[in-house]
Amino acid sequence: MQENFEIKKLTSFKIGGQIARVYFPETEVDFVEVMAREPQAVVLGNISNVLISDDGYSGAVVLTSGMNNISINGTTVVADCGVKGQKLAQTVAKAGLGGLEFMIGFPGAVGGEVFMNASANGQAISDNFIKARCYCAERGVFELNKEDMKFGYRSSICQEKNIKVLSAEFELEEIGAEKVEARMASCLEFRRSHQPLLNLPNCGSIFKNPSGDSAGRLLDDCGVKNMVQGGVKVWENHANFIVNPNDGSSLDVLELMAKMQGAVEEKFGIKLEPEIIYLGDNNKREEELCKMLYQKTQK
Ligand code: EPU
Repeated sequence: MQENFEIKKLTSFKIGGQIARVYFPETEVDFVEVMAREPQAVVLGNISNVLISDDGYSGAVVLTSGMNNISINGTTVVADCGVKGQKLAQTVAKAGLGGLEFMIGFPGAVGGEVFMNASANGQAISDNFIKARCYCAERGVFELNKEDMKFGYRSSICQEKNIKVLSAEFELEEIGAEKVEARMASCLEFRRSHQPLLNLPNCGSIFKNPSGDSAGRLLDDCGVKNMVQGGVKVWENHANFIVNPNDGSSLDVLELMAKMQGAVEEKFGIKLEPEIIYLGDNNKREEELCKMLYQKTQK
């Protein structure tokens, strides 16, 4: 465990202050021990979909990067929560297994990607998912199958019930390395031409797409591209990305998100729901902004 851990360098946004306590479990047993000590701990993988406050977080965080085994048995693949999407895609490609090509451009790790049912290029984590080993305080370690997971667009039961994903099993298709490599190349090409790479710090899509529409298109129609807030700005090539070229702050990001959300709400009457998660508890203005940004509209 490390105290007062500086998290900034590990985040894809290159933003964030000190975390009071950070744990690095390497096995499921370690993980369960940590959670028994720190039942409120926030579990993070590759910190690619999370905005961490510059004023830090006074609680505990569990980083799963040390839980990174992949095992392949025929067409069945089991990946630990800390395995990076990219590594998983490359490993199964070598084995000639298709179904996870879209993960080649993912900055995140398997746990978070199952948790949010990540998707791209017409494929989703849920497509080839069989089951996951999971953890929650009430039940300890248990398994959830595909039906139990209640996967939706960027959602699963894990979000609703605060369930942590320890590892996930996928059933893939034997299609040969060449075909898998070609599909991966086309996913990467899409990513390179439509989305900022990580040398320009960013956190992926900022808002979820509203049902039947596109957050990027709505934001673009509001003219937010290139809108600047302190050190961050809306990316010039896609209006649903905030990039951080100039060492911006967490407050810069939240203020910009509020402007983006407000513009779409005013013009289209649609309240965009943030996809990225905020972590912090020491900044009043940020808490106010989060209340506004994350509050669901009454139906
Ligand atoms: N568009 C605009 N203006 C823009 C941006 C987009 O008009 O500034 C239009 C595009 O022309 C297109 C539509 O909006 O017709 C959708 O845009 P795009 O194809 O770029 O996809 P997206 O819906 O913005 C989603 C996921 C991405 C995923 C891609 C590829 C969400 C919120 N985002 O993006 O996921 O990689 O599809 O499948 O669902 C992520 O979640 O972090 C992420 C990157």
